Amino acid sequence: MILIKLGGSIITNKEKPLSPRKKIIKAIVKNLKKIDEPIIIVHGGGSFGHYWSMKYNMHTKPMNYSMHGVSVVKNSMIELNKIILDSFLENKLNPYCIPPTDFMAGNDPIIKKVKEIQKIANAGLIPITFGDALWYGQKKTYILSGDRIMTYLSKILKPRLSIFVLNEDGLYLDLKSKKLIYEINKKNPTISENKMDVTGGMTRKVEEASKISKMGIDVFFVNGNKPERIVKAVKNRKFEGTLFRGKKNV
Ligand code: IPE
Repeated sequence: MILIKLGGSIITNKEKPLSPRKKIIKAIVKNLKKIDEPIIIVHGGGSFGHYWSMKYNMHTKPMNYSMHGVSVVKNSMIELNKIILDSFLENKLNPYCIPPTDFMAGNDPIIKKVKEIQKIANAGLIPITFGDALWYGQKKTYILSGDRIMTYLSKILKPRLSIFVLNEDGLYLDLKSKKLIYEINKKNPTISENKMDVTGGMTRKVEEASKISKMGIDVFFVNGNKPERIVKAVKNRKFEGTLFRGKKNV
């Protein structure tokens, strides 16, 4: 099974509130069609979820955030999710929406429920989940990042490969030259920050990718503007991107 995160920066225009990038979504979906293994999709919030989370000052730490904010963020994620689901359907794929409320309790994944996602994928459906505003308990709520979901699903389901689809080629040696790092072997690559992001932007992606690779799973960062690279990563062909090689106990 392959686990794929569609980052908010690639499926939406992060500079413009509530703007999906439908053409790019379609191009990505068309390429996903070429993968002949079960896949599970996670998508981010981009200018939908992040836009409203910022407005209502909501973050990843469980706290007493605005309840109206929770409703609005959640609603915007459903809206973006619907756009993704429609695109899969239009391209004759079989998406199966699984909101994170389905497999999360507080901020812990429910192992039995997560294992069911694998069975759904094996049966020929494509489970699609997403980062969201979630109930925590005792009047507290929090923003669950899709990147964090990637780590939970990787840990429980042990995919053959975890892929983060970005709006960049991968990680760069430095932001000036934009020289691509093909394989991560140092701890802290240079990371640019995005202000419209409540879940930690690229820093969180690198953190989660490192965690996943330490489970012994290869993690790829690839550019969704060149969606054939996703297929190449899956088929072990040469392509541009950044690899976090799966290594246990390092
Ligand atoms: C964010 O999910 C979810 C909300 C803000 C509600 P992510 O943190 O995975 O989103 P991106 O991929 O960075 O946009």
